[in-house]
Amino acid sequence: MTRYVKNVWYMAAWADEIAGDTLFSRTLLGKPWLIWRNGDGTHAMIADRCPHRFVPLSMGKRVGDTVQCRYHGLGFDGTGTCVHSPFPDGPPAHVSAPAMPIVEKHRGLWFWPGDPALADPSKIPDFSFLDADRGMHRGCLRIEGNYELITDNLMDLTHAEFLHIETFGVNGSIFHGEQTVRQDEDGAIWNNWDMTDAQAPEWSKPMLEPGQKIDQWLHMRWHAPAAMALTVGLARAGTQRADLILPPMVNPHIITPETETSSHYFYDHEDNPQAAEMARRVFVEEDEPMIEAAQRALGAQDFWDARPAILKTDAGAIRARRALMQRRNAEGGAAA
Ligand code: FES
Ligand SMILES: [Fe+2]
Repeated sequence: MTRYVKNVWYMAAWADEIAGDTLFSRTLLGKPWLIWRNGDGTHAMIADRCPHRFVPLSMGKRVGDTVQCRYHGLGFDGTGTCVHSPFPDGPPAHVSAPAMPIVEKHRGLWFWPGDPALADPSKIPDFSFLDADRGMHRGCLRIEGNYELITDNLMDLTHAEFLHIETFGVNGSIFHGEQTVRQDEDGAIWNNWDMTDAQAPEWSKPMLEPGQKIDQWLHMRWHAPAAMALTVGLARAGTQRADLILPPMVNPHIITPETETSSHYFYDHEDNPQAAEMARRVFVEEDEPMIEAAQRALGAQDFWDARPAILKTDAGAIRARRALMQRRNAEGGAAA
């Protein structure tokens, strides 16, 4: 059984998924959680399971900054404390629901399943590029695959040359590109591909003069547990990346385990029908079936027990897996 790393920030939702007085329920790290927005704009996150007879509290109703269970009327505040009982002897002191710290940052809601005393919001990875109003559509895709299989996918973009050949393919240039894997002072692991004087990918040709060669870079940054950002740059070859064909684009690829074998994938794309269709093809038609097929093939077997063949191009993905394993081992605690 996988243990989830606990002392780390995970993304629960985009902030705008929790509108108004919504009682928002999502399964995260194997359990259902309830999130709501308090009157002062902060958020609360408690187990979506009444401690009395286990029904989802999300079936209940908001009463100010509390939730009232629909079954027998107990009320809970954002710390999970039972603060209301319909009976005259007051709320039972021995009844409470688990709660977790949750904060809004970079348009996301981030929760901390570990020791609340260690929950420092400054440790949320830097996704400040999401703060600007770039007119993006933000989405969340559910994939029937373990979150580390999705990290493998994102930290090894060589698959673009096969799986995304018609959408995001790099026209074979990645096979002649230079891969660099490094860890920065922030603890992030970078898996960078830099292609010089390469054939332009098909999708970029309408923006180029015939036969124009390009320099292209694909830089993927990973933070534990699976919060990634991809920067894509494209410039006319021989210009030291000064003559950009497009402004470099950076997009989030943030993965949170739903269960051991399913994940929530938070992404964005430009808010127009063409970009939506492209995202649907890349994520839903191309990546999702492949990740789900890998998960089905692996079944309940541990990744390392399955003795995966490791290629040189897996360097970034394997380094991310090792970094996460070190954290898991350091925490050492009980199974999640
Ligand atoms: S099940 Fe919630 S109050 Fe009884
Ligand atoms: Fe992909």
